Amino acid sequence: MKGLILSGGKGTRLRPLTYTRAKQLVPIANTPILIRVIETIRDAGVSDIGIVVGGDTAAEIQTTIGDGSQWNVKITFIEQASPDGLAHAVKISEDFLGDDSFVMFLGDNAIEGGIRDLIRDFDDNDWNSQIVLKAVDYPQFYGVAKLREDQSIDYLIEKPQDPPSNLALVGIYMFDKHIFKAVNAIKPSSRGELEITDAIQWLVDNDYRVFPHVHDGWWVDTGKAPDLLVANSYVLEELVPHIAETATIDADSEVDGRVTVQAGAKIINSVVRGPTIIGENAIIENSYIGPFTSVYHGVVVQNSEIEHSILLEDSRVEDLDMILRDSLIGRNAVVKSDKNKKPRGLVMNVADHSRIWI
Ligand code: TTP
Repeated sequence: MKGLILSGGKGTRLRPLTYTRAKQLVPIANTPILIRVIETIRDAGVSDIGIVVGGDTAAEIQTTIGDGSQWNVKITFIEQASPDGLAHAVKISEDFLGDDSFVMFLGDNAIEGGIRDLIRDFDDNDWNSQIVLKAVDYPQFYGVAKLREDQSIDYLIEKPQDPPSNLALVGIYMFDKHIFKAVNAIKPSSRGELEITDAIQWLVDNDYRVFPHVHDGWWVDTGKAPDLLVANSYVLEELVPHIAETATIDADSEVDGRVTVQAGAKIINSVVRGPTIIGENAIIENSYIGPFTSVYHGVVVQNSEIEHSILLEDSRVEDLDMILRDSLIGRNAVVKSDKNKKPRGLVMNVADHSRIWI
């Protein structure tokens, strides 16, 4: 069994963060999503992993992941010339995958409970493919499966206007070598992509065995900013809290038992309530950090209150007189209130596609 992680794509829905970095490298609970995906696959016993990369983000991903030895896996990078669809990514990976069965995992997805049982079930049965489904509130934004009464797949449809069920395709799939027949047979969809739903539909239509597993834990596709906050909350809840030896928490601070404080971080005259993580060398001073917040390495928070947010590396939040909540603050960004400046007002230097709510 091999692993295939899809980490190319355009990431348009996560702008402006994705102007300067791959969306798969955005950290949730201070670990990049892609590293979480690698660990999930490795923990299911699969160590030979291909990562599809493309465009401007390929170099950054290759530099971050290297040969994979840090996570005890062997990584092979596969270059996709343009993001022509998930089935196209499978097609260009044929040399790497050969005749092996494989698990394909979208590099921006996170799932509860890992995939060990899924892989075991796939190994133990004579299925040609296993897909993972999850009941969702807005199926029109996903690939959707319609099952028959006996739970076999009737048909699949990509982002339907009028969804035939609420079962979305989760970004985790298992295939044997017959998937290459499918990806070579299908044609690009109306949006110009080779769709994985069409390839799986081809398997169903040609009497290959595709088993649908309905997942009942959480699953998040982190493609949009609100979804990143949702994933961040779930993963923070799972973290085993830890205070690094080199972290400092002064006597005037109050840090509860669900907080992780990483190496070199300093908490001064502040209250921190978990589940929350404070990154390496971050400084929290005269502030309140509330539940479901990830403060990444090098961040400075002074005289401010923050809740349910993600602050990326080296950003600064200072002197706010309102609570900052439900927010995503990019690398090196500064959010600051200057009370002494006259006339009072909002001063902004905002990137393309940014969103600000006041
Ligand atoms: P998507 O989120 O469906 O596509 P995208 O990354 O282009 O995002 P957006 O719609 O916001 O522009 O992709 C799911 C995952 O698969 C993601 O990790 C990127 C990856 N991918 C590829 O590797 N190759 C591709 O051709 C496509 C479409 C996606």
